[in-house]
Amino acid sequence: MKLLVCGGAGFIGSNFVRQRLAQHGDEVVVLDKLTYAGRRENLDGLGVELVEAGIEDAAAVRGALEGVDAVVNFAAETHVDRSIAEPDAFVQTHAVGTWVLLEAVREAGVRYVQVSTDEVYGSIEEGSFTEESPLQPSSPYSATKAGADLLVTSYFHTYGTEAVICRGSNNYGPYQYPEKLIPLMVLNALHGDHLPVYGDGLQVRNWIYVDDFAAGIGHALAHGRPGEVYNVGGPDETTNIEVVQRVIGLTGADESQIEYVTDRPGHDRRYSLGSEKVRALGWEPQVRFEEGLERTVDWYRENTAWWKPIRSGDYLEYYARHYGKTLG
Ligand code: NAD
Ligand code: DAU
Repeated sequence: MKLLVCGGAGFIGSNFVRQRLAQHGDEVVVLDKLTYAGRRENLDGLGVELVEAGIEDAAAVRGALEGVDAVVNFAAETHVDRSIAEPDAFVQTHAVGTWVLLEAVREAGVRYVQVSTDEVYGSIEEGSFTEESPLQPSSPYSATKAGADLLVTSYFHTYGTEAVICRGSNNYGPYQYPEKLIPLMVLNALHGDHLPVYGDGLQVRNWIYVDDFAAGIGHALAHGRPGEVYNVGGPDETTNIEVVQRVIGLTGADESQIEYVTDRPGHDRRYSLGSEKVRALGWEPQVRFEEGLERTVDWYRENTAWWKPIRSGDYLEYYARHYGKTLG
C-alpha cells in the first residue's frame, strides 16, 4: 500500500512510519511542515520521501497525493501549554489545514484516517470515555482537535469520504519532543535539573506506548468502518507524581529535584479511554507502563545526539518563558 503520512516527521508519525515500513512493507510519502516539533532526523535511514509543506498548502497536498492509496493525518500542534499561550497555529493547522486536506482527499477519492485525542472528551472523574461520550474539550488544543474531528465526520456524511477517526490516550516512547511530561522529566532528571510538577501532581493520565498506538491506527486504517470513531487507550493509568517518581527511580535522580509549580489553567484532572471497539478489530496493547517507561528512559540515555540539539536555542527560550528557570 502507498501511504501519505501527514505530520510523519513528528513523534507518533515517525514511529508509525517505521512500523509500516518494517511490518507492512508499505511505500510511504511524508508531508510535514517541520515545525519545532517536526524533525528530518526522525526519518533518518528510512528512505522515505519527505515533502516539506503544511497540510494547509493545497497545491503541495495535491502533488503529494498522487498515486497514494490512503492518507493518515498526524499533522498538528500538540502541546496544551503552547495552545494556552499562543492558540493561533492550533486554529490554523487543525481547522484550515484539516479542511484543505479533506478537500484534496475528496477529490482523490482515497481512504483517510484522522489521528485525534482523548482530550476532545474533556476530563472524567470516574469510569472511561466511550466513542459515544459527548465532546467537551477544555483547552484551545483540544477544542481545535474536536473541531477537526467534526469536520472529518461531516465529509463522511456529506460527501461519502471514506474517513475514520482514531482517538489516542497519552503516548510515550522514543522521539518524543521534551516539552511533554515524560521526556522532559527524563532529560531534566539526567541533568540534575528541577522536575516541575503542576499543581498537586495528582492528575491522572492513561499511558500508551507509542508502538501500540501506531498499531491501533494501523488496525483502524485496515479494518475501521468509514464514518466511525475508534478510541485507542493504553493499559495503565497513573498520577503524574507517580510518573515522576518512577523516572527518578530509573535515572538515579533525587527526590529533592521535584518542584511543585503553578498549575496549568483549566487543567484536565483525569483521562481514561475505553477501547472495546478497536479491540473488536483485533487490536490489543502489548506494552505495560513499567516496561515501556524503562525502554523510553534507555532510549533517551542512549540517544544523546538526538536531544542535544533540541536542548538548546529556542527550546531554552521556551523553557525560561514557561517555567521561569534556566536549564543546566
Ligand atoms: P508532534 O508535535 O511530535 O508532531 C506533530 C507533527 O506535525 C510535527 O512533525 C510537525 O512538524 C507537524 N505539523 C504541525 N503542523 C503542521 C502543518 N500545518 N502541516 C504539516 N505538518 C505539520 O505530535 P505527536 O505527539 O506526534 O502527535 C501526532 C498526532 O497525534 C497529533 O494529531 C496529536 O493530536 C495526536 N495525539 C497525540 C498524543 C500524544 O500523547 N502525543 C495522543 C493522542 C493523539
Ligand atoms: O491525552 C492525549 C494528549 O496527551 C495529546 O493529545 C497531547 O498532544 C499530548 O501533549 C498529551 O497532553 P497532556 O497535556 O496530557 O500531556 P503533557 O505531557 O503536556 O502533560 C501530561 C501531564 O503532566 C498533565 O497533567 C500536565 C502535567 N505536567 C506536564 C508538564 C509538561 C506537569 O506536571 N509538568 C510539566 O512540566
